[in-house]
Amino acid sequence: MKMSLHVVAGLLAVLVAPAAGQAPPQLAPALAPFSVVINKGIPAIPARLSGKPGDPKDGERVVTERQLGNCLSCHEISVLRREEFHGEIGPSLDGVGQRWDAATLRMIVVNAKKVFGDETVMPAFYRVDGLNRVRPEFAGKPILTAQQVEDVVAFLATLK
Ligand code: HEC
Repeated sequence: MKMSLHVVAGLLAVLVAPAAGQAPPQLAPALAPFSVVINKGIPAIPARLSGKPGDPKDGERVVTERQLGNCLSCHEISVLRREEFHGEIGPSLDGVGQRWDAATLRMIVVNAKKVFGDETVMPAFYRVDGLNRVRPEFAGKPILTAQQVEDVVAFLATLK
C-alpha cells in the first residue's frame, strides 16, 4: 500500500518576532514543496528537491564542512579519512548507498526523524518548523539548501 502525504513545508515556516535592536528576521524562504511516500513502511522522497541533479563532489564538501552538513561530527566515512574528526554518535556511513535507495537517503537528510523516530539526535537538514533554540539569523532557514540536499544524497549514493 502506498500512502502519499503532501508536505508543503514552506507553509509551516515559523516567523519569529525580532527582539528589540536586532535586524528583523528575513521572510522565511519557502522550502521547495516535496511529497513523502511510504515505501514498505519507511518514508521516502522519490522526487528531486531541485531542478538540477546532485553533484557528489559538491556533496562531499557539504558533508565535510562544519558550517554545512558537519556530518563527520557524528559519522565515520572511510573515503574521507583525510579529514580530521570523525564522530561515533551515528553509525559509519560506509556502504550506506547499498543499504538505502536515493529516495530514502533524501528523506533521512531532509528529516531523519521521519525514518528513525523523534528520539534521533540526527538534525533535520531541510526543515524550518519545529526547530528549537534557533539563533535569530537562522530562523526560517533550513540548514541546507535544496541543491545541497541533492548533492549530499548523490555523494551518499557513491558509498557502496
Ligand atoms: C548529531 C549527530 C548527527 C549528525 C550531525 C548527523 N547524523 Fe546522520 N545519524 C545520526 C544517528 C544517531 C543515526 C542513526 C539513527 C538513529 O538511531 O538515530 C544517523 C543515521 C544516518 C543515516 C542512516 C545510516 C544507516 O546506515 O542506516 C544516514 C544516511 C545519515 N545519518 C546521514 C547523515 C548525513 C549525510 C549527515 C550530514 C548532512 C548526518 N547524517 C549528520 C546522527 C547524526
